[in-house]
Amino acid sequence: MAELGVNIDHVATVRQARRTYEPDPVWAATLAELGGADGITIHLREDRRHIQDRDLTVLRETVTVKLNLELACVEGILDLACQVRPEQGTLVPEKREEVTTEGGLDVVANREAVARAIDRLRDAGIVVSLFLDPDAAQIDLAAQLGAHAVELHTGQYALAKGELRQQELAKLVVAGQHITDLGMTLHAGHGLNYQNVKPVAGIASMHELNIGHSIVSRAIMVGMERAVREMKALISS
Ligand code: PXP
Repeated sequence: MAELGVNIDHVATVRQARRTYEPDPVWAATLAELGGADGITIHLREDRRHIQDRDLTVLRETVTVKLNLELACVEGILDLACQVRPEQGTLVPEKREEVTTEGGLDVVANREAVARAIDRLRDAGIVVSLFLDPDAAQIDLAAQLGAHAVELHTGQYALAKGELRQQELAKLVVAGQHITDLGMTLHAGHGLNYQNVKPVAGIASMHELNIGHSIVSRAIMVGMERAVREMKALISS
């Protein structure tokens, strides 16, 4: 059964809208844990648009499940990751102008930077996951460079409708098999919600799903604990 990592960045997005102290992502993480989250995921962006350095250090102290830090392959953020030592680091591409992470990491084009980031995180005892599109060349290189896991980008699947969605799901299934054949752990995330999550949760050897926007959106209406419990029930059934 896939584990659920709850991405709480958007709680910090609301706080940063007023640059105040509420809502606190630390509270959200505690409630997500009470709802059954297996992990808490945060993205410390270079522009600090939502999660702040303080959130990372406080969450390191308070989160009792897996803390998964999404980060770009840049030295300053890698320094922080190696100091704070979350259980897992997920390397993602980052562009300042994007609304959210738009595509998978291009390991082939950025081989040196990604290799160095993997080595730094591994040396700090952090499990390394790479956020990739379902592309065989990217997956092969991830394994070669020593990644422990690959998080498949499910954005195209989530956007597609009808027959096209089935085709996108088939790509995820093939890529998932490739990832596990290479001895890496299979994760997935981006754009998953209460309506589209089940087929992805059902992919063979799916180990972890990272979900943010849809859970935080539902949490505004029904509370974080219930929103997480409802997602857990879906991916477990
Ligand atoms: N996984 C990764 C690597 C991400 O960058 C994001 C977005 O922050 C997510 C999962 C969660 O995506 P969503 O908010 O669409 O559920």
